[in-house]
Amino acid sequence: MEKQMNWSEQEKKNAALEAVKQIKDNQIIGLGTGSTAFYAIQAVGELVKSGMHLQAVATSVHTEELAAELGIKLLKPEEVEVIDITIDGADEFDSALNLIKGGGGALFREKIVASLSKKEIIIADSSKLVNKLGKFKIPVEVVPFGLSYVKQQLEKSGATCYLRKRDDKVFLTDNHNYIIDADFGLLDNPAPLAETLNQIEGVVAHGLFIHLATQVIMGKGDQVVVYAGN
Ligand code: A5P
Repeated sequence: MEKQMNWSEQEKKNAALEAVKQIKDNQIIGLGTGSTAFYAIQAVGELVKSGMHLQAVATSVHTEELAAELGIKLLKPEEVEVIDITIDGADEFDSALNLIKGGGGALFREKIVASLSKKEIIIADSSKLVNKLGKFKIPVEVVPFGLSYVKQQLEKSGATCYLRKRDDKVFLTDNHNYIIDADFGLLDNPAPLAETLNQIEGVVAHGLFIHLATQVIMGKGDQVVVYAGN
């Protein structure tokens, strides 16, 4: 017998399936990264199998591999001018559609893909909605050469910094960079902090996504709740 999904997996899947309904034939789709985006990628694979003509841009090597297994045609981001719809997850979002992303380390590619997208749809289970961003540390992707400098600049701006590790080794992104998880505490106003982080030499990208999401679709129990931008 199929194991029953726990509530958060069910919410992720419901949000993903709702988002995928917005996809139309002949579109270019941005495919997100993470356990929520996984459900959307599966559903896009089903659409392709059913005969829809879709092409996709992946936000990580992992997503690229998954999409290839499902027979989804992949385009190189550097060759794409506009993406019709991207469906991606988030680590936190607020009701103004500000996000923290990058828990999986794919923030740089996710930000480029989001910036190329006409519609950036974020899908999430209900645990991701917060009043104020910042309980989840802000991932900051750093060129290794700049690690010490960037860490000092982040600390000057009030962060406690943690170099991300996996299995006791320094975590490397798909772009062969490091990630500093920066704890700034709860943020009253994330936009100026995003600007400050943008100005630090050596920062490739950071996980604050401001004015990038057009919609958040959140699973809540067996319903979905849609948060839309102005
Ligand atoms: C990947 O780097 C992230 O931005 C993910 O989109 C984010 O961490 C959400 O992942 P889950 O859907 O697995 O929670």
